[in-house]
Amino acid sequence: MKKWFAVIGDPIAQSMSPDMHSHWFAKNGLDAVYIPVHVTADRLEQAVRSLRELGCSGWNVTVPHKSAIIEYLDDIDPYARKMGAVNTVRVMEDGSLFGMNTDGIGFVRSLEEQFAESGKGQEVLLIGAGGAARGIGYALVSEGYGPITCVNRTYAKAERLAGELHAGTMPIEDAAEQIAKFGLIIQTTSVGMNFAENGMPLDPARIKPETVVCDIIYNPLETQFLEQARKAGGLTMNGVGMFVHQGARSFESWTGMEPDTKQMIETITKKLGGI
Ligand code: ATR
Repeated sequence: MKKWFAVIGDPIAQSMSPDMHSHWFAKNGLDAVYIPVHVTADRLEQAVRSLRELGCSGWNVTVPHKSAIIEYLDDIDPYARKMGAVNTVRVMEDGSLFGMNTDGIGFVRSLEEQFAESGKGQEVLLIGAGGAARGIGYALVSEGYGPITCVNRTYAKAERLAGELHAGTMPIEDAAEQIAKFGLIIQTTSVGMNFAENGMPLDPARIKPETVVCDIIYNPLETQFLEQARKAGGLTMNGVGMFVHQGARSFESWTGMEPDTKQMIETITKKLGGI
């Protein structure tokens, strides 16, 4: 019987997950569809019940439900529990719902696809202290990266995240001064996401050449932060790879198959106006 999968969020129309997963299902010869479902915060519990009753085999969870969904699941993996966020639900054979988080590991896989393990042993600057920074921070620690320094506009939040990750922290202005000591810089804030409203959380002009600089934003493909880092001699990576690799880990957990990530990164980059 045809299986079906979904992504739930609000808003959801802009999501590229349906095209990506549909392509992977077809390419791997699986008889399955993947659809976007618009779920507002007040309907989350009902939506989860409906997905289960209507036989959905698994779904992705995006803004604003990543934390709220946890209470409606039967079990979640220890890593997602620590992060307090789930982006992937797998319906188990007995019908129970198992939650995972593939965002952070998706980032690390993307980083290693592009730069092998050259970021290991480097001082890491993690900019931002929201959900995205948290996921990436946990994945970096568990994959052996660091030492990590957390910085954020709101210092108290950077301190809290640094405490959880056993990382260091400093005021964001100090990080800008000392930026040449970091070999891996990861921008996780929403600054630069809006085409009309350029901006940078800090100025990367004084990085040392060949520093690996990542921005998890993928639309625009090159934020002002990434452009400045590239002009300063940095080796840059945008957020397309993280998006594709988080999806690939979800796909693997549902199907046991490993989808083609390289070609998908090219396809999405082209779709977003890149080459
Ligand atoms: P996400 O889940 O995408 O990480 P989030 O949890 O809302 O979203 O976190 C947003 C991050 O972007 C935070 O680190 C936030 O900084 P604050 O903790 O100070 O709010 C950061 N951010 C958002 N707008 C910003 C801005 N204009 N300048 C600097 N940082 C900003």
